[in-house]
Amino acid sequence: MTKSSLMPKARSSVMTIDPYVGGDVTPKGMVRRIVLASNESPLGPSPLVLEFFRNFNLNLSSYPNGGASRLREAIASVHQRSMDHLICGNGSEDIIHLICRAYAGEGDEILMPQYGFLVYSIAAKTNGASPVFFPQPHLYSEVDRLLEHVTAKTKIVCLDNPGNPLGCMLTRNDLLTLHQNLPPHVLLVLDEAYAEYVEHTDYESGLTLFKDAKNVITLRTFSKAYGLAGMRIGWAHGAPEVLDALHRIRQPFNVNSIGQHSATIAVHDQGWIKKAFEHNLAHRSWTKEKLEELGFRVNPSQGNFLLFDCETPERAKDIYHYLGTRGVMIRPVSGYNLHHHMRVSIGRDFEMAEFIDLMKAFVAEKK
Ligand SMILES: Cc1ncc(COP(=O)(O)O)c(C=O)c1O
Repeated sequence: MTKSSLMPKARSSVMTIDPYVGGDVTPKGMVRRIVLASNESPLGPSPLVLEFFRNFNLNLSSYPNGGASRLREAIASVHQRSMDHLICGNGSEDIIHLICRAYAGEGDEILMPQYGFLVYSIAAKTNGASPVFFPQPHLYSEVDRLLEHVTAKTKIVCLDNPGNPLGCMLTRNDLLTLHQNLPPHVLLVLDEAYAEYVEHTDYESGLTLFKDAKNVITLRTFSKAYGLAGMRIGWAHGAPEVLDALHRIRQPFNVNSIGQHSATIAVHDQGWIKKAFEHNLAHRSWTKEKLEELGFRVNPSQGNFLLFDCETPERAKDIYHYLGTRGVMIRPVSGYNLHHHMRVSIGRDFEMAEFIDLMKAFVAEKK
């Protein structure tokens, strides 16, 4: 027997996964002064959450509420949904993994956008299922192209709406067409991590559009507009019979007590979410306009970030390096096979001003 055959071996599908590279990476020589790389909220959490921390009195030696019942109750009342249609997770990523584990395995296909959120393919492969990508040649999702890729093996469709990193959006009518044409045994997972930032009037959340559908799960997160990314809290809405499988396999205490408590406070402060929306809308439009004035093509975005075209992979790398060595970190998207694009998150006023100043300087210097 050879030495290597004595070692534990991971499943072969797991070894095909490229590790996720987040926006927290700071390459050598770069400075992390302004971070516009992870679509986090520049406004931070509601002041009511910060108030809770100033008077912190949770009993940390007790286990958290296993079903996150107070949090689910709060979400149910704010979104006017029924509590038994909700599940919470350690970030919405946790719930994506639970869905893939419960509903797909070896021999099954999980359909997702060519440039969709990377965690979908990681979750598919983790469970031995095959990720299948429907093409997005125009950098947005087209329902016809998606439907063409549904096969007898398709078990789940994962769709980020708005999409990350593209920023694109499917309308209410697109979603209705998609749902009508999807076989009823296929689970449609609508990932609405950026829903709070959408201004388009043709957008509708799965929370209302598919509130009684048996084959739709709508995902939401406290990581973006709520400014609680560090807490890791996500939630999903779906039929109780469908969520039942997720409850069976989730960790019994998958949301920590500090997170549950903070999110319960945060969801009641919808005034804060309105502020986050307004800040984002104003700064997203301003930044897009300035980038376009500099000659960059910018993808229309309904999220808290913009994807812009740098024309060549070399120029994209140059921009990343130029900004990074001057203290402004933005996000390369080559992990999505978008080699000549970069993504910038919408930050605070002075952060966006500095980003644009550096982009102007780059363009002037490299002409
Ligand atoms: C489309 C999309 N879904 C889900 C997430 C992850 O959210 P969470 O922090 O709740 O795991 C992200 C984070 O970047 C995202 O872009």
